[in-house]
Amino acid sequence: MIQVHQLIIPLSLSCDLANGNPAETALRTAIISIRIGERLGMSKFHISNLAYISIIRFMGCTSYSSEEASFLGNEILIRRALAHVDPDDSWEVIQNLFFKNRSGLSWKGVKNILVNSGNLYHDMAASHCDTAGLFAADLGLPSEVQKALHEFYERWDGKGEPIGLKGEEISIYARIISLAYFLELVHDRLSISELMSFVKKKMSKQFDPSLAQHIDEELFFNLSDESIAKELEKAMSAKSFASQSEEKIAEVFGKMVDLKSQFTVNHSSQVCELAIKIAESLSLDENEMDSLKLAAYLKDLGMLSIPNQIIESKSSLKISEKESIRLHPYTTMRILSPTNLPTAVSEIAGTHHERLDGSGYHRSLKDSGISKSSRVLAVADQIVAMRSNRSYRKAFSETELKKEIYKDVKDGKLCKNTVDAGLESLGYYIKKSKPKNSFGLTEREIEVLQKISQGLTNPEIAKEFKLSPRTIQHHSIHIYNKMGVSSRAGATLLAIQNGII
Ligand SMILES: [Fe+2]
Repeated sequence: MIQVHQLIIPLSLSCDLANGNPAETALRTAIISIRIGERLGMSKFHISNLAYISIIRFMGCTSYSSEEASFLGNEILIRRALAHVDPDDSWEVIQNLFFKNRSGLSWKGVKNILVNSGNLYHDMAASHCDTAGLFAADLGLPSEVQKALHEFYERWDGKGEPIGLKGEEISIYARIISLAYFLELVHDRLSISELMSFVKKKMSKQFDPSLAQHIDEELFFNLSDESIAKELEKAMSAKSFASQSEEKIAEVFGKMVDLKSQFTVNHSSQVCELAIKIAESLSLDENEMDSLKLAAYLKDLGMLSIPNQIIESKSSLKISEKESIRLHPYTTMRILSPTNLPTAVSEIAGTHHERLDGSGYHRSLKDSGISKSSRVLAVADQIVAMRSNRSYRKAFSETELKKEIYKDVKDGKLCKNTVDAGLESLGYYIKKSKPKNSFGLTEREIEVLQKISQGLTNPEIAKEFKLSPRTIQHHSIHIYNKMGVSSRAGATLLAIQNGII
């Protein structure tokens, strides 16, 4: 067991990548927030909360990536272009999307966003907030941390999302961190007087005006130093939250990655489960098993830096797009490098796409260069992926899967013993215990929830069940009410946690 902050501080780099932010944006935002909190005379307990909330706030950002990408295109570029922009100011949106050419969008694309975005922003905010709150609960963080995570798109003038809270209805945590994030994004491009006049226009609209008096140069002192992680650790350890196992924290980050695409929901848990069964039958020792579990959850952190239009592409990828996919295990290793996890975790995670004949990526390792644990993870990952739909193909049937995977064995890519063990485990793997239905959902609602979590729209679900879209809409409302969430991502996460999907 470790204290949660010991792992989420280094892993916050994955949140930066997912948002298109420079490395350590989350850490610097937390430091600026802490400094404002100290000036307000907040207690060590509240300062610690502030730091946790700052770091976790973007963990929900993968939950609406598919929808954002299908409407916006490259969702990571768009997030980068709009991160510091007032969404209520159309001119500022146009300037940053088009004239400053930060988004890669054509004028037609920008116009499409301005005219047709409809409820996209509301739904995105609801999804990000629900998910971050549920992750905080998973990590065992206090209820006031979870509550504040629902308020990051709210704004002082009441024009925010998803609820439209106004003024002091918004927690002081969310008010401080919203301002701190904005300051972090813009402070190094402006002198302090330019910054003050820029921020002044936004106080009373986006931000709490009483916080303006705390903005000065000292707020940004030493923000680029390597020491900020230590400064943050000190602030966060002042109040020790319940410890968590490394496995639980890794599992939460695995879910964050899985939510990025409707095709990978629950992928990391399934890979972990299958990898452990293979490892048991191959008699890996306890230490190897522990590292394998962590690697199974964390192996695809590097995918967070890849836009969904590549991950969910239905057509063949360009060379540069293929290259970004081939580099994701490397990015995973870089994210894991500052953690205190055993080196084996990073090694196994970083080699899960290597193949014994040297045809894998990203290092083209061969034979004995690939550890037994890496071979197990590679096989588990491939089997789970083949049993799932992808944007460009349907899930393989059992017969197709066996044919394809044994072809890889014959071609010298995968180890036969490991594949045999994986397929033998599969019989057990597909037997599922009856789902725990703690929300009182009806059988029909469970069926609808399963379809919702697969990313189907109400009309698509209606077509499958031969019901009217209106009936499905009623089912959806009941499901969300019973589960206490307001987004697909929130419902999906709770469904996974309760074994419903
Ligand atoms: Fe991968």
